[in-house]
Amino acid sequence: MKVTVVGAGNVGATVADVLAYREVANEIVLLDIKEGVAEGKALDIFQKSPITMYDSRTVGVTNDYARTADSDVVVITSGLPRKPGMSRDDLIGVNSGIVKSVTEQVVKYSPNAVIVIVSNPLDVMTYQAHLTSKFPRNKVIGMAGVLDTARYKAFLAEALNVSVKDIQAVLLGGHGDTMVPLPRYTTVGGIPVTELIDMDKLNAIVERTKVGGGELVKLMGTSAWYAPGAAAAQMVEAIVKDQKRVFPVCVKLEGEYGINDCYLGVPVVLGKNGVEKVLELKLDKAEMELLQTSRKHVLEVMAVLQK
Ligand code: NAI
Ligand code: 2OP
Repeated sequence: MKVTVVGAGNVGATVADVLAYREVANEIVLLDIKEGVAEGKALDIFQKSPITMYDSRTVGVTNDYARTADSDVVVITSGLPRKPGMSRDDLIGVNSGIVKSVTEQVVKYSPNAVIVIVSNPLDVMTYQAHLTSKFPRNKVIGMAGVLDTARYKAFLAEALNVSVKDIQAVLLGGHGDTMVPLPRYTTVGGIPVTELIDMDKLNAIVERTKVGGGELVKLMGTSAWYAPGAAAAQMVEAIVKDQKRVFPVCVKLEGEYGINDCYLGVPVVLGKNGVEKVLELKLDKAEMELLQTSRKHVLEVMAVLQK
């Protein structure tokens, strides 16, 4: 199996590092536009292998897409990250051009790949990659829900003083402050979370999750990479190993949840074809309203892209 990661910055290098360490693919190509950066980081990852013991080989290249040919999965992380005071949507002008030009090259050299978008604004950059690649919806997907759900689970585990391993949760909507964590579909060792925590605390965790990316930007002056990189790598692993994992993923909705004009995060089954199935939850009225608010926000940013 061969995986390419475009963008060897904070997130891209972390994706490559996690994929190598977990031996998800035997060949990982890391590509960046900046001379030497991908080569250096790939060499560093290779030199770590005798210490942490893995056989996958990571190779770095500067804009040489021929080296990425016939990849099974391509992760696109190239683009500007947020700075304090910026929203993800402020990145659209620069990042849409980057995602478009990168996708053109990816499609030329890896026409059968599944493309996983990470660049922000996530839902609209996934739409951009879909427009450029003309790939079917199952093969152009975005990473956000795995990360946002991980933040929600981490905060819950801390509040309840339980293992993160025992928290199951799902989250819907766009990758922004309108995302929709779903307490009704959250369990701790099979027990509904609402039986274990009072509503004020739970609501505070939901609100913290929604602005979880911004919390990190304020602390670090740029956006996060360890959890985002691991989240994208987990999606790649599900695809490469045909695991049929159930994750919230940004996908084009074609009538599910009554929506057919938008890329949004919803639970899907991930396997060798990318999205194998979109799962439709029975939402109550309040949850559906929140999802519609998120959809409206994503549509506004999509309109900026279309201009
Ligand atoms: P970074 O600045 O550390 O890395 C970006 C890399 O992209 C740089 O090395 C840059 O040289 C490269 N690049 C720029 N144009 C390129 C091109 N045309 N071809 C190839 N490489 C190119 O940024 P970081 O922190 O890695 O973030 C990357 C993107 O991921 C940002 O847009 C950020 O907002 C987004 N992000 C999305 C998350 C999500 O949950 N979907 C989570 C975290 C970040
Ligand atoms: C995050 O949520 C900024 O999208 C990035 O960390």
